[in-house]
Amino acid sequence: MTSADQAEAACVTRPNEGQKVVLVVTGGIAAYKACTIVRRLRDHGLQVRVAMTAAATRFVGPVTFAALSGHEVITSMFEARAAEEIPHVRWAEWADLVCVAPATADFLAKMAHGVADDFASTLYLANAAPTLVAPAMEDDMYRHPAVQRNLATLAGDGVATIGPASGALASGRTGPGRMSEPEEVVGAAVRILKHGVVGHDLAGQRVLITAGPTYEALDPVRGFTNRSSGRMGYSLAREARLRGADVTLVSGPVALPAPAGVEVVAVKSAAEMATAVDAAVPASDVAILCAAVCDFTPHDPAERKIKKGHSDRLEVQMVRTRDILAGLAASSPRPFVVGFAAETEDVRAHATEKLSRKGCDMIVGNLVGGDTDAMGSTDNAVIVFDRNGGETAFARAPKDDIATQIWGAIGRFRAQLET
Ligand SMILES: Cc1cc2nc3c(=O)[nH]c(=O)nc-3n(C[C@H](O)[C@H](O)[C@H](O)COP(=O)(O)O)c2cc1C
Repeated sequence: MTSADQAEAACVTRPNEGQKVVLVVTGGIAAYKACTIVRRLRDHGLQVRVAMTAAATRFVGPVTFAALSGHEVITSMFEARAAEEIPHVRWAEWADLVCVAPATADFLAKMAHGVADDFASTLYLANAAPTLVAPAMEDDMYRHPAVQRNLATLAGDGVATIGPASGALASGRTGPGRMSEPEEVVGAAVRILKHGVVGHDLAGQRVLITAGPTYEALDPVRGFTNRSSGRMGYSLAREARLRGADVTLVSGPVALPAPAGVEVVAVKSAAEMATAVDAAVPASDVAILCAAVCDFTPHDPAERKIKKGHSDRLEVQMVRTRDILAGLAASSPRPFVVGFAAETEDVRAHATEKLSRKGCDMIVGNLVGGDTDAMGSTDNAVIVFDRNGGETAFARAPKDDIATQIWGAIGRFRAQLET
């Protein structure tokens, strides 16, 4: 590989190379996870500086963050420095993104009310770059109306939020308030550096997404499925959550972690997926059916493992599964319906035909099979068609980026329908 090739490869794999992040670490148990966040941000080629509140230094030492970030850590407003330096202003000017992780209830309150009584909070006020917060606290604190008010104020100020997730908390309780995993926080940071803060345009809306393959049992140990990884649907669910939606993700069997703040309903067969969709539809404003549902299922699955015996062929009678997309699009009242068309050739012709045959509002066409196979891949290239004849193509990119673009296209078309 020539050095030019290497540089180009680095640009493709680390498109944010050289951008600058100030990570503000505040005083919660999850401060130890901020060490991994620094590592992962640097893996993306980003420069990182860490500011800590006084409380944060009680949980993890500044020396650890200095070593991981390769830069001095600032923990106090009045450390001895050259008079002209004014570090909170310099750091604010330097940052392309300020990321607060973990964000305590206390620090969120300061941000929401413009309190600037230490280095980290003053830096936040002095900063004009996008800001991302990853709240982390006990479930009762997170549910408290004061915390919810502060988060709403920050959303109104254009601050992006990732999580919190629901799960095991430091106290041993279980509930919402657990900081999103470092990979999720870094994913959100990278996305903001690429696309800016996407507003809460789905706040107050309920979104239903299906993802992954289905598994149709032939006998207790064998079955029919397909190569869908579920990544596209999971990226769409994560993006919808980041835009403020309440998201239900009906997922076939996949090996992916649940996106933070998303309700996941795990199903196996096409019939189970149809039932889960039926249950979620009445409350949904938008439904995106992204799952690769098996069209056929064994008519009479065996209750015991099928033995090969002396036969050299096995005939399986398959029957059609229910067409979830067509059924949903034909129902009334119904949510705004977006389908997916996975095609091995001529995406435009097949996708537009499916759009009108099934009666959806929009359809996302993508190529499967061949050199640029979307199925199972981390990347995708799509064309989004709407029922008024509009279309937009999005070039091959990671599925998280494609999800951002698909939600952008959905938002534009829904706005067009309202005017
Ligand atoms: C052991 C321990 C764990 C704590 N964990 C959290 C937490 O996860 N989230 C939170 O909001 N506050 C937590 N607190 C309380 C904060 O440390 C406290 O509100 C502090 O004033 C926050 O300061 P800061 O926002 O300047 O970092 C914890 C306190 C202790 C002693």
